[in-house]
This record gives sequence, structure tokens and C-alpha cells, in this order.
Amino acid sequence: MIINFRKTNFWGVAAELTSCPESDRPEVVLSGKSNVGKSSLMNALADNRKLARVSQTPGKTRLVVYFDVDSLIYIADLPGYGYAKAPKDIKDKFAKLADQYFTSGRKIALTLHLIDIRHEPSKEDQHMLAYMNEQQIPYFIVFVKCDKFSTAQLNKRLSEQMDYFDIQDKAHCFAVSSERKMGLDDLRDAISAFIFPEPSTAN
Ligand code: GTP
Ligand code: MG
Repeated sequence: MIINFRKTNFWGVAAELTSCPESDRPEVVLSGKSNVGKSSLMNALADNRKLARVSQTPGKTRLVVYFDVDSLIYIADLPGYGYAKAPKDIKDKFAKLADQYFTSGRKIALTLHLIDIRHEPSKEDQHMLAYMNEQQIPYFIVFVKCDKFSTAQLNKRLSEQMDYFDIQDKAHCFAVSSERKMGLDDLRDAISAFIFPEPSTAN
């Protein structure tokens, strides 16, 4: 089944795990550091700049924001982690919400873990990937902000990052730019195929 990402609507917000929607549909979670571009990716996938709030200031998303995509799946835009400048109580609150999200037993069909291609690989990302491997949470790695590099630089950078994170499964890695709309079709197709696999036609 093909998900039509252009049919995305704001669904609601949750400040606590108890107000999150029932797991009545597959849920895709956007995770990654604050300011990495999670909300921008949501908008780019849906081709609608007005959907999720994007900001120059890290820490814009402080709640879990749910989007209904084509009445088939939810996408949850999580608060980013590692936002150093927030007051400690707020920081603790949204770090807790993001943590709980993964540890509460909520059924997550797929996590899109975003990594900024321009930055040095971080321990936080490494921990997150190790955690998802351990917990068997299915994930794609989405390298974002790829518009900042030439093709040659981008390929070099991608292979360095793959080595650092010891990524074996290259089929589940994507290079995108929300700003320039690069790599989005591949990512949309891969999400659809992962969540709603076509029955095998081999006989
Ligand atoms: P939090 O809500 O704080 O966790 O941030 P976020 O991960 O949702 O990031 P957001 O989408 O708000 O984007 C943060 C900044 O990155 C904004 O200034 C965006 O314009 C910029 N940005 C996002 N995607 C891209 C991209 O593909 N290319 C470039 N060059 N900038 C981008
Ligand atoms: Mg955000």
C-alpha cells in the first residue's frame, strides 16, 4: 500500500504519555537531537510548510506532536534531546517524555532517527542506535541537511558516518534535504514499503 504523505493533518499534542493516542495504527516516530530538523522533515514529507513548527531556536517542539497521515499511520514528532539551554526543569521534562516514549512499551512501527550530516558523529546518536538495536526497535537512519555539501563531499561524509556508526544495513539509510527537497521520494516509498509490505508475488 502506498501512503499519500500529502494527505497529512495535525492530529493533536500530548504532554504526557497517558494522553498519547491509542496504538490503533502503525506509528512512525521522528527522533534525534534538538534542532536536527525533525519538524522540517515532517513538513517536507507532507509537502506542507505550515504543518509543524520549525525554529532557529532549538527546543521548539516541547510536546509530542501527532500527525495523521492519509488516515493510515501516525507520525509522532518528538521533542529533541540534548537541548542544553533550556531551564533544567523543562529540559528534564521533555527528555523524560522522549525517553519514556521508547521505554514504555508503546508499539513503534518505525523510528526515523535523524542525524545532521554536517556534524561530527555524536555519542548521543551512537547510544540511541545501540539502544534501538538492543530493544529491536525498527529504524531508518536519515542523514539530514545534505544540501550543504557537493555530491562528492556528501558521499565521502556518508561513508565516514556509516563507518563511525558501524552501519551494516545501508538499505535503511537515507540522505535528504528538507530545504531542497532531496531524497524525499525514496524515503516516502521506503516508509510505505516497510509499514505495508506488498505480499510476495513469487510462486
Ligand atoms: P526541535 O523541535 O528543537 O527538536 O528541532 P527540530 O529537530 O524539529 O528542528 P527544526 O525542524 O525546527 O529545524 C531546525 C533548524 O534547521 C531550522 O532553522 C531549519 O530551517 C533548519 N533545517 C531543517 N532542515 C534543513 C535542511 O534540510 N537543510 C538546511 N540547510 N536547514 C534545515
Ligand atoms: Mg521540532
